Amino acid sequence: MNLGEHRGLFEIPEDVAYLNCAYMSPQLRSVRRVGEEAVRRKSRPWEITPGDFFEDSEGARGLFARLVRGDAEGVAIIPSASYGLAIAAANVRVAEGEAIVVLEEQFPSNVYPWRDLAKRTGAKLVTVPRPADHDWTTAVLERIDGRCAVVAVPNCHWTDGSLLDLVRVGKAAREAGAALVVDATQSLGAHPLYVPEVRPDFLVSAAYKWMLGPYSLGFMYVGEGYREGFPLEQTWLGREGSEDFASLVEYRDAYAPGARRYDVGERSNFVLLPMAMEAMRQILEWGVEGVAEGLSYLTGLVEEGAIGRGMRAIPAERRVGHMIGLGLDPGAPKDLAARLADEGVFVSVRGRSLRVSPHLYNTQGDVTKLFDALARHLP
Ligand SMILES: Cc1ncc(COP(=O)(O)O)c(C=O)c1O
Repeated sequence: MNLGEHRGLFEIPEDVAYLNCAYMSPQLRSVRRVGEEAVRRKSRPWEITPGDFFEDSEGARGLFARLVRGDAEGVAIIPSASYGLAIAAANVRVAEGEAIVVLEEQFPSNVYPWRDLAKRTGAKLVTVPRPADHDWTTAVLERIDGRCAVVAVPNCHWTDGSLLDLVRVGKAAREAGAALVVDATQSLGAHPLYVPEVRPDFLVSAAYKWMLGPYSLGFMYVGEGYREGFPLEQTWLGREGSEDFASLVEYRDAYAPGARRYDVGERSNFVLLPMAMEAMRQILEWGVEGVAEGLSYLTGLVEEGAIGRGMRAIPAERRVGHMIGLGLDPGAPKDLAARLADEGVFVSVRGRSLRVSPHLYNTQGDVTKLFDALARHLP
């Protein structure tokens, strides 16, 4: 893949070096077009048929299933990562004294439901400290044993891209009889994560970052062992036979098959679903491996540049290819991100890291701009 070759698919001005996809992805032109058409549709509701309440939902399920190489029956449509993680917390089995494992400084959407569950059940929240060598996999594996009920982790740490090998973590969790809950919001679409290899019990992702989709939409893959669980809502669309609008008051106890029972109410969002589908089609056309390879090259350049300036960086073998955290000294200006933004360079400061997260619209020139700006503000 040629760097910058895909910039024209987005609407990014030449003088903007947007290296902040981990914050929010820019929108593909094609996704905006689809969204605008979708907004127009509601002006003519007589053209929206009962079948339309199902068609895009099923289409989106199928596309998400292709992204994670799972079965579409296991996919639920959710409005946020938090929503999916609340479903996971409502369904895993945890007893008093058992452990729920999370990472230090993990994103709060995947911490608060577990703090709450631990409080209600008397389970222990075990926070794995950040390892000095960035090897989260070993650190997490050391905490998985027979007293562990849930391992609730990401594929990479959201502050700096440091990697967890979910295949190994998943295997250890299964052997210990623990549920594996993955928040893939900071990786899905840019880093290969495949259900047949990882075998998660719950895998959630918000769509607005690496899935290049709209805000307020996400997807959840549910493992076969959890498809008969408790949904957060009792949405009528999640019931068996809801296709027949004339008979909706013949109330049913049975849910629609697979993971559909977990769908959010009004899941057939006529604007957001078509947009997310268009974005998933584009990612599938590139191929997640192709995206990962292009972005690895860019973060490799960032790593090199950082080392050249004497900054600490998460090394390639310990991180995903699409994101890199550069260590900030305590003396770094508090408003560093704002200062860089004033110069047209967009990155984030998360914890003690300057987080650089490119996508296929970025070029080597954007990396040069980043280091030119850093030279001015981090002398
Ligand atoms: C790892 C991770 N998970 C989830 C989210 C978003 O969570 P939610 O969809 O609950 O707002 C973010 C946002 O930055 C994130 O970094």
